[in-house]
Amino acid sequence: MIGLHYMPRISGQPQMGHQQITAVPAHPGKLLMESSDCKACHQLDKKSVGPAFVEVAKKYKGNKDFLKYLSSKIIKGGGGVWGEHSMAAHPQLSNVQAGEIVKYIMTLTEEQAKSLPQSGSVALKDHQKQPGGNYILSATYTDGGGQATPLSGTAFLNLRAARVQAEDADEVRNIGRQSSALGSIHNKSWFLLKGIDLTGIRSITYRYSSLNRDGILEVHVKSSKGQVISTLNFKQTGDWSKYIEVTAPVTDPGGKNDLYFVFKKDEEPNQHMFTLDWLEFKK
Ligand code: HEC
Repeated sequence: MIGLHYMPRISGQPQMGHQQITAVPAHPGKLLMESSDCKACHQLDKKSVGPAFVEVAKKYKGNKDFLKYLSSKIIKGGGGVWGEHSMAAHPQLSNVQAGEIVKYIMTLTEEQAKSLPQSGSVALKDHQKQPGGNYILSATYTDGGGQATPLSGTAFLNLRAARVQAEDADEVRNIGRQSSALGSIHNKSWFLLKGIDLTGIRSITYRYSSLNRDGILEVHVKSSKGQVISTLNFKQTGDWSKYIEVTAPVTDPGGKNDLYFVFKKDEEPNQHMFTLDWLEFKK
């Protein structure tokens, strides 16, 4: 099964890097549901023995008693609402647990649960409404099982927005992560963006300010001392609140790489050189 999930950007909270994707905090209701027998009779977006959960979410949207009603239905079971089948009772679930499951079901919308055909293309449009988030593409494969229980594996791909808010950097060294910028940047400070594919990208634009330092920002591949693929000579802007946009060309080293953005100024004073609001990868 292939799924696509758009994670809107939550300001002040670092984006998930490619490597951390498997640790995306799941909704507690989702976990409870996965450890129960629900999937024997329900699918997210298709009717099975029981109704599709997206249909349930649609039906009870706007109904203010949904939490109480659906929690008790899950615990006690019953039928008559969706067809001739009845749902098994789940007395092992507490009211609170059933409530968490219901809350999770109500977050499901058709768009979120969209599962994709095994091959083909999909237009990514959600970021136009809520810019700055990232897409998570997941692919799960379950084998036939043979004599043992079926094995299932999942791979994730994180598609970032072209514009990266600086404070969302995957790692920083000798840099202050502020609520909407990276600041306190000195000679040899660096920040890291993991797993970046630069196919088709020709330049990087930075929005920055610098009170009174001219310096260099280099992009290195694989480590802070690796191959340099882009160099920006930046100039002071005269005021920390005066931001400007500048662009430097970049060469694609091929494949996916960890990019280290390293600040340099050999001569002193070389402290407090830069504040970065965002950067954008451009075609
Ligand atoms: C044995 C099959 C079966 C299992 C297991 C099962 N369900 Fe159901 N479920 C059904 C059927 C059938 C219906 C439709 C009942 C009806 O028409 O009232 C249903 C309906 C529902 C509804 C909508 C209730 C309504 O009145 O609209 C919810 C919510 C729900 N199930 C959640 C769950 C959850 C959560 C689990 C796991 C903890 C679960 N189900 C396990 C078969 C099942």
